Amino acid sequence: MIKPNMNYADLKDSYLFYNIAQKTKAYIEEHPGANLHRLGIGDVSLPLCDEVIKALHEAVDEQASAENFHGYMPECGAPFLRETIAKHYEKFGVSLSPDEVFVSSGASDELGDILDLFDRDGSTLVIEPAYPAYVDANIIEGRRILHLPSSEKDGFLPGPSADFVADLIYICSPNNPTGAVYDRPALKRWVDFAKEHGSLIIFDAAYEAFIEDESLPHSIFEIEGARSCAIEICSLSKTAGFTGTRLGYTVIPKDLSYCGMNLNDMWVRNRTTKTNGISYILQKGGAAVFTEEGQRQIKKNISFYKENAKIIMKALDEVGIWYTGGKNAPYIWLKCPDNMGSWEFFDYLLNEIQVVGTPGEGFGACGEGFFRFSTFGSREDTEKAAALIVDLLK
Ligand code: MLT
Repeated sequence: MIKPNMNYADLKDSYLFYNIAQKTKAYIEEHPGANLHRLGIGDVSLPLCDEVIKALHEAVDEQASAENFHGYMPECGAPFLRETIAKHYEKFGVSLSPDEVFVSSGASDELGDILDLFDRDGSTLVIEPAYPAYVDANIIEGRRILHLPSSEKDGFLPGPSADFVADLIYICSPNNPTGAVYDRPALKRWVDFAKEHGSLIIFDAAYEAFIEDESLPHSIFEIEGARSCAIEICSLSKTAGFTGTRLGYTVIPKDLSYCGMNLNDMWVRNRTTKTNGISYILQKGGAAVFTEEGQRQIKKNISFYKENAKIIMKALDEVGIWYTGGKNAPYIWLKCPDNMGSWEFFDYLLNEIQVVGTPGEGFGACGEGFFRFSTFGSREDTEKAAALIVDLLK
């Protein structure tokens, strides 16, 4: 008889954002006509920029003629996009060969899929609070998970510890959910630690485009030694509004060899087996993000979300709530008022002022008592939510 993957029994009943969507849906069913202000899941509200839309249209038209039509695309990405992304890294002082860049259908897919490269009997370190997919994907694989908690005391940026040695280490910077960003010396300590212990860092750089402080690193490969101990997973979702369109990229340096196996070669083998590549149309749209005009337009959109952040932070200042993030990241991480629990605060905001956020506990046990607001909402929702928060909590 077929035996299912019993690791699923170790997962929580439902995934965090699905859980929130269900609670929100139930609220709307009980309160027909309720107007919710959504600062929960980090889904963008601005459309794709003109430069991307133009490229997508042109690519669609190309598909209409036999001479320009594209069928299967190369599994690891179209050379034009791999080259464009490798060139983009030069801005960070990072030199990559195009075949170290793999075009993907988005970071969330890759953060779990990449585990195919590693022995399931191994261990994984998750720095918490953390994007919940790290833990869930590792539970599904049956890997041993070490939870390294962080707190206000370390600015939610803990350093490595000899008590938490694992084969794989997830680092997200700028961080989801706390908005904290590792600086170069702190990231160097993680790189040195990974090298010392033979660990591999899976660096989630999905929010790098939100960094405004020039001294902060956008890529782990800006740190000396990272090529021999890190993989970087990046996304156009938040950078350029591709949450629904789905496009990202993963960097696997050729230097990563263990037990006679090379991770870059293995990922080529994996992708050529498990995918037929990302569509030509999407990859043309993705390449448009990296043109001069594309960069100008996406920066304008990012500034819009940063303005949202300022509106929320001003409201929190007015009611005296402690928070962090919002400056180099699109999330604001705050302390629930009056010692409320994070799900308690979620219910309170939903019931009293119809504002939806994300409970900190959903990102790990040490997130209890904290809460996350996303700055990706519409201006109208953000302004309304900010005003209602002030009225409710002042
Ligand atoms: C979040 O809200 O944490 C993210 O938008 C979820 C995701 O990227 O999958």
